[in-house]
Amino acid sequence: MSDRGMRMDRNELVLVSPSKDMEHEILQYKEEHFAFGDRQVHGSGGLAFDDSFDEWLNRIRFIREKSPENIALTSTFFSRRVSDGKLIGCVKIHHTLTEELESGGHIAYGIRPSERGKGYGTQQLELCLEYAGQLKLKRVIIACDKDNTASAKTAMSCGGKLVKEFEEDGILKQHYLIEL
Ligand SMILES: CC(C)(COP(=O)(O)OP(=O)(O)OC[C@H]1O[C@@H](n2cnc3c(N)ncnc32)[C@H](O)[C@@H]1OP(=O)(O)O)[C@@H](O)C(=O)NCCC(=O)NCCS
Repeated sequence: MSDRGMRMDRNELVLVSPSKDMEHEILQYKEEHFAFGDRQVHGSGGLAFDDSFDEWLNRIRFIREKSPENIALTSTFFSRRVSDGKLIGCVKIHHTLTEELESGGHIAYGIRPSERGKGYGTQQLELCLEYAGQLKLKRVIIACDKDNTASAKTAMSCGGKLVKEFEEDGILKQHYLIEL
């Protein structure tokens, strides 16, 4: 195998659905964010704000399968590095956009602090877009704060086109559109 082939294999990610047997590694993932100074665990559906792992997991499962009226079904995944099994990132996707969800877009994502800037954000988003295709979505919106260059570039590296800039709660935001 060429050097390039070996490098790509070592960095390959797969999406996995959170489960109870992942509790320890998910809590470590969360802790790494806090130790780094992040107050959120982006793409996790509120992991940072739940004291109880089980409550968070139950909510994630509920919104994936049932969801009350007027709330979109939402799938939440971790990305796992195939070579060593490490959790690398987290991504969630709303299957539809309700009026309430519109400004936040379909997809939210994050990469654990120690693994940022290595191409994983792009790879994880590509995997999520494949899943969006399985959901038969034709286009997805990704929202980010205008000053979040890494997030905007991640969307652009997967074909995102800037379609809107707006202010919300005093913060400048952008919408990137990806046609699938
Ligand atoms: C945004 C995030 C998911 C990107 O993941 P990542 O693995 O660091 O991104 P990648 O290494 O795949 O890089 C994607 C692009 O962003 C650029 N980039 C990465 N980190 C950057 C940084 N700190 N500043 C500027 N650009 C950056 C890369 O150069 C690349 O651009 P290119 O395709 O033009 O070369 C990650 O930085 C993160 O988790 N940030 C905190 C959470 C967050 O902001 N989530 C988004 C909320 S909308």
